[in-house]
Amino acid sequence: MANKLFACKTDEVPTDAAKIVTVSNMPIGVFKLDDGYHALLNICPHKGAALCEGPVCGTTRETDSTEFVYDRAGEIVRCAWHGWEFDIRSGEFLVDSSIKTRRFDVSQEGDELYVHI
Ligand code: FES
Repeated sequence: MANKLFACKTDEVPTDAAKIVTVSNMPIGVFKLDDGYHALLNICPHKGAALCEGPVCGTTRETDSTEFVYDRAGEIVRCAWHGWEFDIRSGEFLVDSSIKTRRFDVSQEGDELYVHI
């Protein structure tokens, strides 16, 4: 069973970046998306950079034609070291979902956020 540990206050989480916290000696990024709060381990599975400190952004997606469209704005975090993009909700690398950073459930009690470890 997961431990529920305090992460931060809701008003500490910006809408365009992660709030970086340390919980149980783990660096964690807490994000606020349209559907609520999400948390990822702040370690990129590629080469270990501080993934959650990269920009929160969207991604370019192929269409049926020869175009690319910018999509999913605010749902992706891009690692600052080599540009790998991860789904904030799942922690999955967009190019290969078998590569992922650890994600944590987040619960809210009043103005406090807890991660489940
Ligand atoms: S360390 Fe994150 S993309 Fe390389």
